[in-house]
Amino acid sequence: MSNDGVNAGRRRFLVAATSVVGAAGAVGAAVPFVGSWFPSAKAKAAGAPVKVNIGKIEAGQQIVAEWRGQPVFIVRRTEEILSNLAKLEGTVADPQSAASVQPEYVDKTNRAIKPEILVLVGLCTHLGCSPSFRPEVAPADLGADWVGGYFCPCHGSKYDLAGRVYKAQPAPLNLPVPPHTYESDDVLIIGVDQEKA
Ligand code: FES
Repeated sequence: MSNDGVNAGRRRFLVAATSVVGAAGAVGAAVPFVGSWFPSAKAKAAGAPVKVNIGKIEAGQQIVAEWRGQPVFIVRRTEEILSNLAKLEGTVADPQSAASVQPEYVDKTNRAIKPEILVLVGLCTHLGCSPSFRPEVAPADLGADWVGGYFCPCHGSKYDLAGRVYKAQPAPLNLPVPPHTYESDDVLIIGVDQEKA
C-alpha cells in the first residue's frame, strides 16, 4: 500500500520532469524570435523617448505622435497664433500654467521651447478624451470669438493653441506639456528633458 503510494509519487515526478524538459526546449527554440522583438516592447513599456521629424509640418498644421501610449500633438504655430495667445491671458484659467503640468524650461506663456513648435499630451484634463484640433477662426459651431484651439468632444472643454484651458470648462487644467528636447532643427525628441545650459 505504502509502496504504491511511493511509486505513484515517482510517476507524478517523472511526468512533471518530462513536462519541464519539454517546456525548456520550447523556450530555447523561441529565443531567436523573442530576441528580435523584445527590446522594442521593453522600450515601449518603459516609456522610451520618441523621435519625431517635424520638418514637414506646415505652418498652422498639426501632426500626432505617440509616446507612452498617449497621443502627442505637435503644431507649427504661425505669428498670428502666437500673437493671439497674449490676448487670451484673461480668458484662460491658468495663463502661466502655475497649476498645470509643464517642464520648467518651456516659456510660461507660449508653453514651448521654440515658440513656433507646440508639443502637448493630447488628453483632456477632465476625463481623458482626446481633444480635436480646431485651428480655424470663428467657425460656426465654436462662435465668432474662436481664434483656433482644441475642442474636447466628450464634454465640450475648450483650450487655446498653447493648450491652455478656457475659464469655466469641465477640464480643470491645461493640456500637459511633456518633457522634450531637440536633436536638430527638424528632429524633436519626446520623453527627454532639454539639457540645462
Ligand atoms: S473629457 Fe474632455 S471635457 Fe470631459
